[in-house]
Amino acid sequence: MKDDEDNNTEDEKKKKLIKESRTEETNRADSSVRKLKRPLNDNILESQGIIIGKTLGKGSFAVVKCAYDVNRKTKVAVKIISKKEANYEYLNKFLPREMDTMRMCNHPNLISVYQLIETTSRHFIVMEFVQNGDLLELIKQHKHVEEAIAGRWFTQLYDGIAYLHDRNTAHRDIKCENLLLDQHFILKVSDFGFSKQVLKAKSGTVALSETYCGSYAYAAPELLKGIAYNVFLSDVWSMGVVLYTMVYGLLPFDDSDHKKLVKQVQSTVKFPSTPFVSSRCPKIILKMLAKHKVRVNLKKLAQDEWFKEQYERRESGPPPEFPSPIKQMTLDSFVAGSSKMQDTHLEAESCDL
Ligand SMILES: Nc1ncnc2c1ncn2[C@@H]1O[C@H](COP(=O)(O)OP(=O)(O)O)[C@@H](O)[C@H]1O
Ligand SMILES: [Mg+2]
Repeated sequence: MKDDEDNNTEDEKKKKLIKESRTEETNRADSSVRKLKRPLNDNILESQGIIIGKTLGKGSFAVVKCAYDVNRKTKVAVKIISKKEANYEYLNKFLPREMDTMRMCNHPNLISVYQLIETTSRHFIVMEFVQNGDLLELIKQHKHVEEAIAGRWFTQLYDGIAYLHDRNTAHRDIKCENLLLDQHFILKVSDFGFSKQVLKAKSGTVALSETYCGSYAYAAPELLKGIAYNVFLSDVWSMGVVLYTMVYGLLPFDDSDHKKLVKQVQSTVKFPSTPFVSSRCPKIILKMLAKHKVRVNLKKLAQDEWFKEQYERRESGPPPEFPSPIKQMTLDSFVAGSSKMQDTHLEAESCDL
């Protein structure tokens, strides 16, 4: 009962605008990225026919730049990691895992890697360029995502993550910032920096992980409590946070106060009364944002009514997907937004390329 009261107060306090989730790693890294003063377009890239353009994003230990690949005759994204700036653990543990996972990825809802280059001072990950930015930016611009579109993106997120889980790999950093949208607004999961291959016994038993990874706002309760956790089930929790954030336009849990966050994630999540969302949608969210013992796994998630409906709709093609004029407007606003974002990218590129 007390938990519920606390939760209500938290809800009232919660800012309407979602903010970027922060990790200790992110905070450390932002300052390290700012420190990078030397030019990033090493000669090695030019010798490979890769001409570096503007910055697309900055993450924990890397800067991601847009580039033109002369040989592939296409735009690419290059993630640049400075060996001097990144810490030992990242370079020797997380980065090799990121590269291994990327080599394995061959799925329309996962970012593909084209080339991995290493010099004495840097690592370069040359990958598929995704032009419509990340999901967090899009939610910020549009306040929230209309349910039919959120359903489409959620099923795409599901397909990408299911591909990884089928290969015994967990993502461990599923969050809106790491979900990118291509020119057709197809969702692509990116940033495999915390991904991990986990052994599964024939019985289905999974070796538990003890390393804390990811962003607090997307972290499952067992992870926040610091107990050994099933990485596949913690990915499902983060997927629940993503769906909630898309449809309601705010994060379900406030990560500004760690103690309160730990308490919040252990009580039943509250849903705002607006925007309107069909009753089936909170039901599937509750299955994901549940205690790990009763949390749905990916296989069972696919049997959920809301999920099946979204999946069928997606497979039957776009026109019947957005029948009402209101819904059509929402889609149009995404397309309008996209051309704005594309222009920004084009402008940026024309300055630099
Ligand atoms: N392939 C890509 N195409 C376009 N933008 C990208 C691409 N990869 C990353 N970005 C942008 O760069 C940001 C940081 O990249 P990410 O791989 O998440 O780095 P980090 O591991 O440092 O978080 C992303 O949030 C996104 O905005
Ligand atoms: Mg990232």
